[in-house]
Amino acid sequence: MTVPLIDPFQRPISYLRVSVTDRCDFRCVYCMSENMTFLPKKELLTLEELDQMCSTFIGLGVEKLRITGGEPLVRRGIMTFFDNMTRHLDSGALKELTLTTNGSQLARFAGDLHSAGVRRVNVSLDTLDEQKFADITRWGRLPQVLKGIDAAQAAGLRVKLNVVALKGFNEDELFTLVEWCHARDIDLTFIEVMPMGDIGNEDRLDQYWPLKDLRARLGEEYTLIDLTERTGGPARYVQLAETGQKIGFITPLTHNFCESCNRVRLTCTGELYMCLGQEDMADLREPLRKSPDDMQPLEDTIRAAIARKPKGHDFDYSRQDVAGKMTRHMSHTGG
Ligand code: GTP
Ligand code: 5AD
Ligand code: SF4
Repeated sequence: MTVPLIDPFQRPISYLRVSVTDRCDFRCVYCMSENMTFLPKKELLTLEELDQMCSTFIGLGVEKLRITGGEPLVRRGIMTFFDNMTRHLDSGALKELTLTTNGSQLARFAGDLHSAGVRRVNVSLDTLDEQKFADITRWGRLPQVLKGIDAAQAAGLRVKLNVVALKGFNEDELFTLVEWCHARDIDLTFIEVMPMGDIGNEDRLDQYWPLKDLRARLGEEYTLIDLTERTGGPARYVQLAETGQKIGFITPLTHNFCESCNRVRLTCTGELYMCLGQEDMADLREPLRKSPDDMQPLEDTIRAAIARKPKGHDFDYSRQDVAGKMTRHMSHTGG
């Protein structure tokens, strides 16, 4: 029998986030710099290698697979990969196949995603204002994303909005976002902005809006009931007593959730990051390319990597020098 993946802190690893491309059709300011240099194609895992990697992790007990990027739906041929993952859903080994997307390509792919077994998508959307949307993504078009969300719902996909909370940017839209999501039966999660990428050039510190403040604002209008249920991700949820709506909070800064971490991240070049907020990684591409017909070396490398998964990240805005600042862009590890 296969021994499941357990890290040094006795946390079972059941959630793999896979970034399938470093490219994106937007350039969200907290995620990428304006002039990104993208990887040459030969550096990327092929679709077949992605399949081998994911299948190996599933064989080792991973039950939740989240495809990310960059923007996962701009990777050429990605639907073939999704279709190939369906077999793991059918066998029961994989409990959830899902993705986090900017929504720009959803109108085109929603139906195919549903056919592949995807039932839920997380869409990153920080504002409902067209001009602000164009500013934060540097050139994105909001109507295209809204069309994508409609298509996803029409295809039977449950939609969750991921909103990065940014002081002075979307503070004024808190209640608009809450009501907009409620009216459409869309789930909503707020995220604290993490200090990654070129934060020297951006106003990330000034924009940091602690979710305890956001929560307090919400509490002025609604009665908040804390829920204990989780989705396997890092969000904690509250329910608004007046409407029954659930709202998630992802608080890497103000309420560290690392003690219950169940996940690792694979980049599109085959690097395995044991923690989003740490630099340590293991190269999985080398053992796979050296031994494409025997997964044992890959499996051994994965186990050795999990055995050094750190206790947690070091993000901390309270220090002047922004301890835990990562020069790595968020798009590299897919969030
Ligand atoms: P659900 O399955 O819906 O719970 O999704 P999720 O929250 O696991 O995934 P999603 O891609 O929607 O991530 C939302 C945010 O949570 C992103 O900003 C991620 O970077 C952040 N996030 C997810 N896992 C971690 C983690 O382990 N550490 C930190 N610091 N942030 C994380
Ligand atoms: N801090 C917090 N969330 C971020 N995301 C991207 N960059 C950051 C950051 N610096 C979010 C995206 C997306 C998810 C994968 O990560 O908005 O919802
Ligand atoms: Fe693209 Fe998502 Fe990064 Fe925005 S957050 S630039 S949509 S990968």
